[in-house]
Amino acid sequence: MQKSARRIALDILGSTNGPPGLSCDLKRLDERDRALVKELVLGVERWKRFLDYYASFFCHRPVQRLSPKVLNGIRLGVYQMVFMGIPSYAAINSMVQCMGSKGERGFVNGVLRSISRNPGHVELPSLDTEIISYAAIRYSYPDWIVERYLRSFGLKDAISLLKSQNSPRPVTLRVNTARVDRDSLLKMFQANGYDAWPGSLDISIKVDKGRGVEQFPGYDEGLFVVQDEAAIIPTLALDPCPGDVVWDVCAAPGGKATHIAERVSQDGLVVASDIDSERAGMITRSCARLGLNNVATVALDATGPGEVEAAFKKRGLPLMYDKILVDPPCSGLGVIGKNPDIKWLRRESDIPKMARRQARILETARLFLRPGGCLVYSTCTLTHEENEDVWGCFVKKHGFAAALDSKRLFPSGDSRMPNASGGGYMYLLPHIHGTDGFFIARGLFEPGEKGKFP
Ligand SMILES: C[S@@+](CC[C@H](N)C(=O)[O-])C[C@H]1O[C@@H](n2cnc3c(N)ncnc32)[C@H](O)[C@@H]1O
Repeated sequence: MQKSARRIALDILGSTNGPPGLSCDLKRLDERDRALVKELVLGVERWKRFLDYYASFFCHRPVQRLSPKVLNGIRLGVYQMVFMGIPSYAAINSMVQCMGSKGERGFVNGVLRSISRNPGHVELPSLDTEIISYAAIRYSYPDWIVERYLRSFGLKDAISLLKSQNSPRPVTLRVNTARVDRDSLLKMFQANGYDAWPGSLDISIKVDKGRGVEQFPGYDEGLFVVQDEAAIIPTLALDPCPGDVVWDVCAAPGGKATHIAERVSQDGLVVASDIDSERAGMITRSCARLGLNNVATVALDATGPGEVEAAFKKRGLPLMYDKILVDPPCSGLGVIGKNPDIKWLRRESDIPKMARRQARILETARLFLRPGGCLVYSTCTLTHEENEDVWGCFVKKHGFAAALDSKRLFPSGDSRMPNASGGGYMYLLPHIHGTDGFFIARGLFEPGEKGKFP
């Protein structure tokens, strides 16, 4: 028997990788039901803390002690009633049917019915005296993220940022200009009934979701890449030109590497490396779809210069590069909007470890940069430890000249854009720029610097 959308959503929420056969279950659904599964899963992930708080007023047992299945059933029921406006009888019955034993069905039914009879009977902590708890529950984040946002951005901007990262946004596409121009692609989308409009960059298009990306017109023909505008900026900052030899150090799945390849043309070369060989395979597949044959993909650990040198030599790849992009793994707070599970999976204690790894990768990268070459460092996070601190330390230690013109890179950026003068970096922020949260820094390697590769 075919599983319902709600049953599949419950299964997805109940296990990290999804139980066996889940992708088959999803494939059997029609487009509307697939969209419903996505909305339910992302909605519950996004609003988990708020939903648990809400449910706790109607549950005589602490919600943390409920089994994952019962708790997720309740979360899904509350989400449908409170956020989706689904009539309570439909929301309740559908979730009760997903439960196994009589006990589970009775419990979920009781809690959800009680909520439907008393909507809004939930008291939040005081905004005046318990600001962190208030914002963390109201906007559904862990306390530590709220605390950090308040410290970094102040109350008004922190609240806008929390809200903005809970609001779904349209899909952004980067046009593959080697194959099509933006106007033609835009017309193609509009002719196919999509709500599509130009983005802030002359190579970006916004599309109001609907169907899966692989069904978009021009996908198989490689006319675009799904890429947030903030994720396009590091490549624009690197400014790859025809003939450049570029190393994209942490390159998978290849969003930036394929853009760089487009820009260096047939005369240039992109070496796209990643520690994870399976993920590196994603770059190869993306290049094939986009018709790019100037990218060499290599699996390596960029924290060790010796390993990198050996991998380059083995593959006959250059040991010196004109331009290098370092887009390392980070805590990902800037992409919570798209991946709300980051809220619950990430720990504040991960941040110093991430920062140490980022610094090591930068240290390796610079050894392969030619004098006068350009290095761009970007992250999709909003912690100063991984951004200003890592970059500031690196620039100071190695005498890189900070060089970044934020106004040229993001035309609709305004004066609120944090851009320390002389620091050579910029932030893009969801609540100000309508993009993912990104940090982008650019430095020029000045000849005469000591300590090059032995
Ligand atoms: C933020 S993602 C890169 C996204 C990519 N630049 C893009 O635009 O599609 C970070 C990547 O770094 C890779 N990575 C993690 N540790 C690494 C290491 N020590 N050396 C090389 N790559 C690493 C991860 O596998 C991951 O694919």
